[in-house]
Amino acid sequence: MGATALDLKLNREVGFYTSKVGRKALVAVTGAVLFLYLVAHLIGNLQILAGPERINAYAHLLHSQPALLWAARLVLLTAVGLHALATVQLWFENRAARPIRYQRPDTVQATLASRTMIVSGPLIAVFVVYHILHFTTGTVHPKFVELSVYNNVVTGFQVLAASGFYILIMALIGLHLYHGLWSMFQSLGLNHPRYTPLIKRAAAVLAVAIAGGNIFIPVAVLAGIIRPV
Ligand code: HEM
Repeated sequence: MGATALDLKLNREVGFYTSKVGRKALVAVTGAVLFLYLVAHLIGNLQILAGPERINAYAHLLHSQPALLWAARLVLLTAVGLHALATVQLWFENRAARPIRYQRPDTVQATLASRTMIVSGPLIAVFVVYHILHFTTGTVHPKFVELSVYNNVVTGFQVLAASGFYILIMALIGLHLYHGLWSMFQSLGLNHPRYTPLIKRAAAVLAVAIAGGNIFIPVAVLAGIIRPV
């Protein structure tokens, strides 16, 4: 590729990112990647209901492919970084474009979910750091046993404060997903007034399924449905 063609290509790519539409699309696409991870992770987590052999075998399988595992981690980390960077930039731009604060911040369209996005996002990021120290490295888990996922999850959730924190964050993730999922369609221009209510309903169902599925695990441990072995 010649220097001019390369310049043009770079300009187009930089221009895409610096445009508001481009950044919104980036938030939508990286959000979709993170959502798909959450679906896959929930399916993995629910294997705990099939007993220790099943979920421990699943963890062994993931860890037996280090190259693949690190590739997935790299994709996730990039998605989280770009999602956060573009969102925060958009948030500051929107604020700057509106120097006089609205008298009533809870204006017509603003739902609890949309108003809390900028807070729920960083809180979820803090949770992920804690979660990795809890279940991946075991740094903050007093009864952690390497690759013994079943017991790590059960003994981890037997601690009421830890379970309570997870449940709270999962509810927040549900709220974040609900708003994120339906606004993703708007950002990508895949919206039509006729379909918006349907998209919102589908987003609500998916958000409740992800949050509810994850909340079920600490609740089941505390209720003695999932027991230590
Ligand atoms: C009840 C809910 C959840 C349970 C039981 C759970 C369980 C686990 C376990 C056991 C691991 C360690 C896997 C291993 O090292 O073999 C893990 C890793 C992880 N989880 Fe979760 N998780 C839950 C919710 C979440 C949520 C909501 C998120 C994201 C917002 C999340 C993101 C992650 C990430 C990023 C890792 C690190 C993966 C890696 O090793 O690279 N988890 N989870």
